[in-house]
Amino acid sequence: MASSSNAKCLVKGSINIDEFFALPHIVRPGETISSTSLTKRAGGKGANQAYAVAKAGGQVDIDGCVGIDGEWVRDLLKQGGVGDGKLKTLEDELTGRAIIQSAADGENSIVLHAGANYYLPSPNPSPDLKGYTHLLLQNEIPLSSTLSYLRHAGENGLISVFNPSPMLSQKQLRDFPWTDLSWLIVNEGELQDLLLAFNASSSSSKKGTQGSDDNDIQKIAQHGILQLHENEYFSKKIGIICTLGSKGILYFDPSTSKEIGHLPAGKLITSLKDTTGAGDCFAGYFVAGLMRGDKLEDVLKTCLTACAICVENEGAMGSVPSREAVLSR
Ligand code: ADP
Ligand code: NA
Repeated sequence: MASSSNAKCLVKGSINIDEFFALPHIVRPGETISSTSLTKRAGGKGANQAYAVAKAGGQVDIDGCVGIDGEWVRDLLKQGGVGDGKLKTLEDELTGRAIIQSAADGENSIVLHAGANYYLPSPNPSPDLKGYTHLLLQNEIPLSSTLSYLRHAGENGLISVFNPSPMLSQKQLRDFPWTDLSWLIVNEGELQDLLLAFNASSSSSKKGTQGSDDNDIQKIAQHGILQLHENEYFSKKIGIICTLGSKGILYFDPSTSKEIGHLPAGKLITSLKDTTGAGDCFAGYFVAGLMRGDKLEDVLKTCLTACAICVENEGAMGSVPSREAVLSR
């Protein structure tokens, strides 16, 4: 397995500023209310995942765009160990924004503005992946960028990991260059969306997961992974990881085994606090583990421990533990 100190990951993705307004209730049309607090945090799936790769001990750069209002996010990423040589600051764009209304009863309501994340230079130069061994992608930037980076990675033999969040349209999923992809990370809902797009939704998944117990959900996802693997739109070489929240993960590496494995979620020491960014923590730790060349099961166990610490703490980036903290747990 390609293990090495010269393993290096590029994350091509989004950078956001998340603004949390604490409110008595979600604002109604025409209404004006005051928030009891305003918390500003760095976010965006690209930034979160790059940060997690670095916290996990992997060498990583982020390729993306912010506005001048996002320079503090650049500093935060740099302090976390993320290389910012490919992070552009645009004079005429705002950094991507998430305006989150967070109501007293726990309800949320979010407005997203892509801002600099959707900037496309014209003409758009082809991606430069020299010096990188791994590529990590999500879906919060123009899909055309994601696709050109993935194709380039495929042509140049990089290991690529894709977390299709937010989900692509059914047509986009069918047209996706799956043969260039090494690893897919999805949650249960995303797995079912893929199967629907590929006309492979199983009888058990059509039944839905409502009222089913943990065992059923696991069985449905297990069946779904096999259907996905065998689907004509997909590629048989792709490794698949399906995260199941508190139920842990299912994983399938067709290059080494015909079996689907299951690992339980990491045990919590304190109580569950905030699952925001758990998926991103998982993706970052996963790529860092691949980069070290560890055995898949060991990589995944480390991911699950990191996620347990992540959900015990508030925030996205702020709750991603260091590799030392994970190892000592
Ligand atoms: P996403 O946010 O992408 O839907 P998940 O909710 O599946 O991702 O969370 C990713 C990982 O975080 C899980 O596989 C698990 O290890 C951990 N996790 C999430 N929620 C919990 C929870 N309630 N208790 C323990 N671990 C959790
Ligand atoms: Na968290």
